[in-house]
Amino acid sequence: MAGVTLSKVVKRFGSYEIIHGASLEVADGEFVVFVGPSGCGKSTLLRMIAGLESVTEGDVSIGGRVVNDVEPAERGVAMVFQSYALYPHMTVEQNLSFGLRMTGHDKADIARRVERTAGILRIAELLKRKPRQLSGGQRQRVAIGRAIMREPQLFLFDEPLSNLDAELRVQMRVELARLHKELGVTMIYVTHDQTEAMTLADRIVVLRDGTIEQVGRPLDLYNDPDNQFVAGFVGSPKMNFIPALVVEGDGRGVTVELAGQERTTRLTQPLAGPAPEPGSRVVVGVRPEHFGDAGKGDADLLVNVDIVEHLGGTSFIYASTAGDYGLVIQRDADGVADAAEITVSIRKSYLFDENGKRLR
Ligand SMILES: Nc1ncnc2c1ncn2[C@@H]1O[C@H](COP(=O)(O)OP(=O)(O)O)[C@@H](O)[C@H]1O
Ligand SMILES: [Mg+2]
Repeated sequence: MAGVTLSKVVKRFGSYEIIHGASLEVADGEFVVFVGPSGCGKSTLLRMIAGLESVTEGDVSIGGRVVNDVEPAERGVAMVFQSYALYPHMTVEQNLSFGLRMTGHDKADIARRVERTAGILRIAELLKRKPRQLSGGQRQRVAIGRAIMREPQLFLFDEPLSNLDAELRVQMRVELARLHKELGVTMIYVTHDQTEAMTLADRIVVLRDGTIEQVGRPLDLYNDPDNQFVAGFVGSPKMNFIPALVVEGDGRGVTVELAGQERTTRLTQPLAGPAPEPGSRVVVGVRPEHFGDAGKGDADLLVNVDIVEHLGGTSFIYASTAGDYGLVIQRDADGVADAAEITVSIRKSYLFDENGKRLR
């Protein structure tokens, strides 16, 4: 087993800089998820840890050893990709054992590892089948099995579930969580799917344009985001952002006026740090689940109901304001009246300055 350390890691392709000095400590046995929009550099960072991409500047260490110049095969890592290229003419057993057979590994040990891997992934009854006789989920399990066969000190996953349908993805997510528990090995997992990140990670690393925006436990990111980007990326449906102007502020708090409301709507929040100047533009962030009944929160909003999605237990109201920006409001199904206009209250909100930095 091994932890991973990134120290000021930079990646450039020619003169184009993709990763701008990423530093991170992954503890031994930890499950860390890199999450961020497509193109933000998740795969590049993971591939540098695997040794599939060179490190332009800075250091990558695995188990306390700098591995910048260590061959991928010597790093003790196994990587699972989105596209699980199994050998079509080989059985599951042969696919699992192929890598070790090629390096002349001891036969008895290969047999032991096949049995253990099949047990962990519950594919013992599939060992004699060919890939075309397997479902998508079973194939992906075999691909993960090939990684387990190597008994690595570090697992790297690059969007391994993206090719599976929604139901299988949920099922495999649970399998991966179980696998991590069972093996206790360090895992780094890349995804653009915030739900996967929230459900799998011990800690999430949020990336944006090659920069680490925030690192933290899933609920800490949800409850206490450092900036508007993280606030918008973590949580589903996404946090609503309402433009506002600072009316007054002092050492204790700030009062803002929400833009685009039919009536003047003000909201006061305590602040530990300095308040922005009156007249400054800020953004009020409200999660869909943080709207409540009229009169029961910090500020009431009158909104037009555009569409209601009834999901059974909860409903999502797609609403618009006089200022014509959209809001998503989550309510208990029985709290949704059939009305063209409703008043909801902001029970909890976040403030961001005009650069997206959280005001606390
Ligand atoms: N070999 C390469 N040469 C040049 N640019 C690349 C190369 N690989 C990736 N990139 C660029 O680096 C950026 C990050 O890519 P990637 O790490 O694949 O993002 P992600 O996995 O987050 O979607 C993208 O803009 C991509 O086009
Ligand atoms: Mg990628």
